[in-house]
Amino acid sequence: MRRILLTGALGQIGSELAPALSDRYGADLVIASDVRMMPPQYAGHGVYEHLDCTQPQQILEVVRRHDIGAIYHLAALLSAVAEEKPHGAWNLNMGGLYNVLEAARQYRCQVFFPSSIGAFGPSTPRDRTPQLTIQRPTTMYGITKVAGELLCDYYASRFGVDVRGLRLPGLISYQAQPGGGTTDYAVEIFYQALRYKHYACFLAADTRLDMMYMPDAIRATIQLMEADAARLRFRNAYNVTAMSITPAELAAEIRKHVPEFAIDYHVDPVRQAIANSWPHSLDAGAAAEDWGFKPQYDLAAMTSDMLERLRAKIAGQRAGA
Ligand SMILES: NC(=O)c1ccc[n+]([C@@H]2O[C@H](COP(=O)([O-])OP(=O)(O)OC[C@H]3O[C@@H](n4cnc5c(N)ncnc54)[C@H](O)[C@@H]3O)[C@@H](O)[C@H]2O)c1
Repeated sequence: MRRILLTGALGQIGSELAPALSDRYGADLVIASDVRMMPPQYAGHGVYEHLDCTQPQQILEVVRRHDIGAIYHLAALLSAVAEEKPHGAWNLNMGGLYNVLEAARQYRCQVFFPSSIGAFGPSTPRDRTPQLTIQRPTTMYGITKVAGELLCDYYASRFGVDVRGLRLPGLISYQAQPGGGTTDYAVEIFYQALRYKHYACFLAADTRLDMMYMPDAIRATIQLMEADAARLRFRNAYNVTAMSITPAELAAEIRKHVPEFAIDYHVDPVRQAIANSWPHSLDAGAAAEDWGFKPQYDLAAMTSDMLERLRAKIAGQRAGA
């Protein structure tokens, strides 16, 4: 088997996808890379490369030197950061993807590209958003995701590159902090609930968005990449989701475990405007039909697992302090 490269591997998804791929295929087959310096956890185990995706020669060199057969391309600026830095977002989100697809074309690599609910916009049907529908996002992040989906489709049909993708909802996880997205509240709320029993949410109480617990996102990614290509009606990208929730609903669920928890709302107009342009709930029927997508965590299961694992993490940090 040829090796696997992850770009942006130190981010929220990569921190959990890299170990999951190592467990499944063997640590010596997985190369983690990021524009950040090598963190301590890679010293002595696992292979880590310093790789800036905006530099095509760096990607080509790493792909050639490690005999890469699959690239999980995670490096991107997320929605809120992309609104702050639209030029940088275009440069990385589009330029980086183009460089990865070109390397994949030349070295015959499979590619995973994570799109997002951000690839939809205010004119998209907001409830049970179909797999094929209007995609006219109003954010730089969304524009790069729609253009990215189309570029991936082009490389699949024009050059035969085996590109696959998911339109991911907001991801909730306890290992790495989220990287500046509109759904980050759904991670921050857990830390604040356990540490301070209070959270000031930057989205309004009734802002309904799709979410998914990280183990379901990791499972879906691997399942899609291993799926029979003949069954895939869509390359980029399959709608996936596990729950459609508001901050008030999440707070109520947390309160079942942390009764003193209180939430109030300090709405950030930039992130609220982004959230208001996104769907309430995606229809993930095509993913279920084509490659068997089935999330395991609903709101209740996710909340109780998150709190348990985060309690252990925070206790470990206190013990180590
Ligand atoms: N986390 C989510 O909720 C979510 C939801 C939908 C889609 N996605 C998509 O999944 C992918 C990964 O998301 P994430 O949450 O892990 O993001 P993240 O912000 O946590 O991580 C991105 C990583 O990319 C790295 N990076 C930045 N510039 C780079 C460069 N020039 N070259 C190489 N690496 C660079 C960063 O150092 C960071 O470690 C992105 O494409 C994102 O749009 C994420």
